[in-house]
Amino acid sequence: MLRIALSKGRIFDETLPLLAAAGIHPLENPETSRKLILDTNQPEIQLVIIRATDVPTYVEYGAADLGVAGKDVLMEHGGEGLYEPLDLKIACCRLMVAGKVNEPAPNGRLRIATKYVRSTERFYASRGEQVEIIKLYGSMELAPLVGLADRIVDVVDTGNTLRANGLEPLEHIADISSRLVVNKATMKIKHRFINQIIEQMQGAVAKAA
Ligand code: ATP
Ligand code: PRP
Repeated sequence: MLRIALSKGRIFDETLPLLAAAGIHPLENPETSRKLILDTNQPEIQLVIIRATDVPTYVEYGAADLGVAGKDVLMEHGGEGLYEPLDLKIACCRLMVAGKVNEPAPNGRLRIATKYVRSTERFYASRGEQVEIIKLYGSMELAPLVGLADRIVDVVDTGNTLRANGLEPLEHIADISSRLVVNKATMKIKHRFINQIIEQMQGAVAKAA
């Protein structure tokens, strides 16, 4: 049995055509089914539907053999115990620092709200700047509006969410796309099977480019 971990929404939707190129078609839609394990047309392949941030953990522990995770999520997880053989070039966005439009930095330490604590620490440490980081789990855009933080670190695509909340992007931390991740033991044990899937998905990524 081979298990592939995916999150609902944009990653599932954008991975579907790449899986199709590898001949893998889910038999159910996670948006309408409440099942967390979905069978596919290939009896030995299942999809497991989990939170985006949990994908590296499932793959690291071998509870899933393969997974698709955003680079933002992988940078937070650290990527231990995982191979990252393929940039799928889907769910593309940028990890950025943002703040209220035209608001200068305060004197003293910046307070930064984010769910990306490790990436934020690394970014400011690389500049030798001491900051206070406040861990949030979502709706980061609210934090500067209600005085919880001076800045946020979040992913930005169109910039619509920032604009709608009177925020602007200030600094670019990293370009983000989703990656195929593979459990290290699976890569050894099922090398041929996994490589065949990787090659077929790679072909579809190249075609889409
Ligand atoms: P969780 O549910 O675990 O908190 P999430 O809500 O961030 O995660 P999604 O919104 O499905 O999960 O995002 C999955 C991935 O897609 C992110 O890790 C990021 O790499 C990318 N992403 C997030 N927002 C956007 C966006 N607006 N445009 C393009 N890609 C995005
Ligand atoms: C993500 C992210 C930002 C937003 C950025 O949220 O946390 O809030 O997308 O995208 P934008 O620059 O295009 O506005 P989420 O996945 O909740 O929202 P979405 O599905 O509406 O993009």
